[in-house]
Amino acid sequence: MCGIVGYVGEQPALDVVMQGLRRLEYRGYDSAGVAVLDPGTHALNVARKAGKLANLDAELAETELPGSLGIGHTRWATHGAPTDRNAHPHRDCSGAVAVVHNGTLENFAELRDGLTERGHHLASDTDTEAVAHLIEERYDAAGTGADLAAAVRAVAKELDGSFVLVVAHRDQPDLVVGARRNLPLVIGLGDGENFLASDVTAFIAYTREARAVDQDQVVELRREGVRVTDLDGNEVAGDTYHVDWDTAAAEKAGYEYFMLKEIEEQPEAVAETIGGRLGRDGRLRLDELAISDEDIRGFHQVVIVACGSSYHSGLVGKYAIERWTRLPTQVEIASEFRYRDPVVGRDTLVIAISQSGETADTLEALRHARQQGAWVMAVTNTVGSSIARESDAVFYTRSGPEIAVASTKAVMTQLAAVYLVGLHLAQVRGTRDGDEVRSHYADLAAIPDLIAETLTRMDPMRKVAREISAAERVLFLGRHVGYPMALEGALKLKELAYVSAEGFPAGEIKHGPIALIEQGTPVVVLATRHALAPKLVTNVQEIKARGARTIVIATDGDESATPYADDLIRIPDTKSLLSPLLTLVPMQVFSAEFAMARGLDVDQPRNLAKSVTVE
Ligand code: G6P
Repeated sequence: MCGIVGYVGEQPALDVVMQGLRRLEYRGYDSAGVAVLDPGTHALNVARKAGKLANLDAELAETELPGSLGIGHTRWATHGAPTDRNAHPHRDCSGAVAVVHNGTLENFAELRDGLTERGHHLASDTDTEAVAHLIEERYDAAGTGADLAAAVRAVAKELDGSFVLVVAHRDQPDLVVGARRNLPLVIGLGDGENFLASDVTAFIAYTREARAVDQDQVVELRREGVRVTDLDGNEVAGDTYHVDWDTAAAEKAGYEYFMLKEIEEQPEAVAETIGGRLGRDGRLRLDELAISDEDIRGFHQVVIVACGSSYHSGLVGKYAIERWTRLPTQVEIASEFRYRDPVVGRDTLVIAISQSGETADTLEALRHARQQGAWVMAVTNTVGSSIARESDAVFYTRSGPEIAVASTKAVMTQLAAVYLVGLHLAQVRGTRDGDEVRSHYADLAAIPDLIAETLTRMDPMRKVAREISAAERVLFLGRHVGYPMALEGALKLKELAYVSAEGFPAGEIKHGPIALIEQGTPVVVLATRHALAPKLVTNVQEIKARGARTIVIATDGDESATPYADDLIRIPDTKSLLSPLLTLVPMQVFSAEFAMARGLDVDQPRNLAKSVTVE
C-alpha cells in the first residue's frame, strides 16, 4: 500500500525513480509523483498526478526534471481523496522539503492543528503534508540546524502510527533520508549510487545487494555510502543480503498480464518451495524453522492467522495439520484474532501466513501472540519483511516476486508450505512414522508436474468463463479441503470481475444459499474425488434440479458427477488432502478469464492494493 522510491547517484534520478515506481505500482495506483533536486537551481522540482502512473508519465513528457537525486511515490489513498492535490510528494511552506510517505499517522489531526496555529499553510488533505512542515521546523530550529537526518529523527518521535518516510531537502544535494515504523523499507546498495524502496523490485535492475531497515530506524543515503541510526542517532549495524532473482522475474515476459504469467509459473514455484527438503537420513528437514524439537513437542494447539487469500491457505493448513499431528488447529482472520483477547500461550504455535510479510493486521496479530508468550512461525514470500523479522521462525515460500494484486503463485506455495509444516510437526511429535512422512513428501514432490498438466487443460474453463461473463452472481461449492478453495475461487472472482461471488461448504446450500439459485445461475463445484464425493454429487443434483448451470471440477476417471455437469473440467488425480494444489488452478484461470472478458485489468483491480499495511 503505497510504493516509495529514493535515489541518489550519477544517473538521471527521474528515470531511476520512475522505473522503480513502475515496479511498485502494484502497491497502489491512486496517484503518483516524483521530486528531483535540480543541481543548477537547487530547486526541488515536483510532478504529481492523480490516477495510474501512466498519467504521470504523460505529464512528464512535457517537463524536464534534471538531477541525480530524487524521490517518488505511488499511492493507495487513505487520508484524502485520490486527487492531484493529495498526490505525493508533499512539501513544506517554502518548497525546501519534499516528503513521500507510506502509512497512516494516527495523530495527524493534532499535528495539523498545531502547524496551522504556528502559521503553516497546509495545501492538501493528507496526513503526510504535516510531516513536511514538521521537518521544516526541526531543520531550521537551533540544535538540529542543517542536519536533515536529525530533523527526521525528531519528527519520527512525534508521529503515532505507521510510516515509511523518504525525504529530500533542497540544500542537501547528496542526501536522501528514510525512516520506518511498521512498514517495509529496503536499502539497495550500488556503486556510487544508493536506493531506498518499499521492496527490492524497485531497484533490482541496478543492484541485487540489499539491506533491510529495522523498526524505528533512520537511513542517511548518500552517493558513496549509507548510514543507519536509531531514533536517538546511534549508528546501528545490519546485515546485507543478495537478492537471488533478477529483473526478468519481475517483467511480464510476453504475457498480457502479470497474473497470467504468475499462474503459469506455479509448477516451478512449488518445485522451488518443496525442493531439497528431505535430508540424507530420509527425514524431512525444514532447517529455517528455528524452533527446537522439544518446544514443538510441547505444543498443545496451533492457531493460524492470515488475511485474504493467505487465510484460505491457512484453512487448508488446518486440515493437514489436524490430520497428521492431531493438534487442535484454529484458523482466524488476523484482524479478528488480534482484538478478541485470544487464548494463546507458551503451548501455542501461531502460524502467520503472509505473502508480503507486511500486512498490518497479520503483523499486529503476531505481535499480540508473542506478547502472550506464544511461538510464532511466519510463512512468507518476502525475505527481510517485518513479519519474517518479528517471528521466532520463518518458512520462506519461494514463489519469486508476485506483482499482480490478486495472489496466485504465492497462495500456491503457501499451500505447499502448510503441508510441509504439518508434516514436519508430525515427524517431530512422532504422530506419523518416517515411512508415512516420506510417502506424503513424495506425493508433494509429484505436484509440480500435476500442476503443469492441470494448466494444459484449462481451455474448457476459459471457454465457460467467457460464456458466462455477463453473469452478476456466481456461487462456488466445495467440501472438506475443497471448501477453502471454493472461498478462494469466490474471492478471486470478486476481486477481479466485481461480481457478487460466494463460496459455501456444499453441505450448507440447503440451509440458505440454494435460495439464490435461479434458472442459469452459474455454480462452480469442486467435486474432486474424496470420501465425501457421494454427498457432493447429491448436492450437485440438488442445484441442477433448480436450474443452476453446473461447472464441475472432477478428478480424472471419476464419472459420478458427469450426468449433472453442464461443464466438466478435469484435473489429474492426487491424494484428496493435496487436491487444493490442483483445484486452485481452475479457480484462478476462471476468475482471470471472466474479468478479461469484461474488459477489466486483472493486474490492478479497482480499490485494492497488493500489500495492505494499514489496519
Ligand atoms: C491483499 C491482497 C490479497 C492478499 C491479502 C493478504 O488483500 O490483495 O491478494 O491475499 O492482502 O496479503 P498477504 O501479503 O498478507 O498475504
